[in-house]
Amino acid sequence: MKTLEAKNHVPALRFDWLTGFYDRLIAATMPEKAFKTALLRQAGVRPSDRVLDFGTGTATLSILLAEQHPDADVTGVDVDKKVLTIARRKVAESHATVRLVRYNGNKLPFESRSFDRAVSSLVFHHLTRTQRKRALRELNRVLVPGGEIHVADWGKPANGFQRLLFYLVQLLDGFETTADSVRGILPELLYEAGFDNVEETGKYKTVFGTLRMWRAVK
Ligand SMILES: C[S@@+](CC[C@H](N)C(=O)[O-])C[C@H]1O[C@@H](n2cnc3c(N)ncnc32)[C@H](O)[C@@H]1O
Repeated sequence: MKTLEAKNHVPALRFDWLTGFYDRLIAATMPEKAFKTALLRQAGVRPSDRVLDFGTGTATLSILLAEQHPDADVTGVDVDKKVLTIARRKVAESHATVRLVRYNGNKLPFESRSFDRAVSSLVFHHLTRTQRKRALRELNRVLVPGGEIHVADWGKPANGFQRLLFYLVQLLDGFETTADSVRGILPELLYEAGFDNVEETGKYKTVFGTLRMWRAVK
């Protein structure tokens, strides 16, 4: 059996064959519009900003971003070929301009200091500790000095019941990658990757556990 590092990534709903159901499941079970809108509000994107959506998935956040900020230059990056096919179709059907890029999960295929903002939603719990550290270092590299990262992801459960609910996510996405979400160590890893002024900006109690939002500055 391949290890997670060798396999490179956990698909949006763990199994390839479930990827086509991702949008419907998230829209039906999560406060998706609310937290993605809040994440973009906190990102404070300015006209002509270059924005990277890390782990864009089906590109819902990238499209929302490009629709809200038509003058911004929006790029979505992901490792999964199948999810990017869905993303490409959704972008083509929208009125948004989004560049979609596939990469290998190691080095982001962008020059250093080439983005003003990075956003990321529901991605880091798919990564092992090694992958998280690597991804955060890479995100730090591609941001300009003073550039900001804005993350929404599963975090430390707000209470015992939220912890119980999160077992559902762990059963689906795997215990290896989600253990650090329960420990709530993303802020620590952001500092370690070279970010500063790390701040938790909000939380949502959901049927799958506690979704937390952070911002940090390079
Ligand atoms: C749960 S989905 C979230 C998608 C989207 N950001 C959203 O909020 O709906 C997680 C995404 O992370 C992607 N992913 C997994 N490992 C990754 C990595 N190392 N780098 C970038 N994306 C990754 C998966 O392919 C998947 O599309």
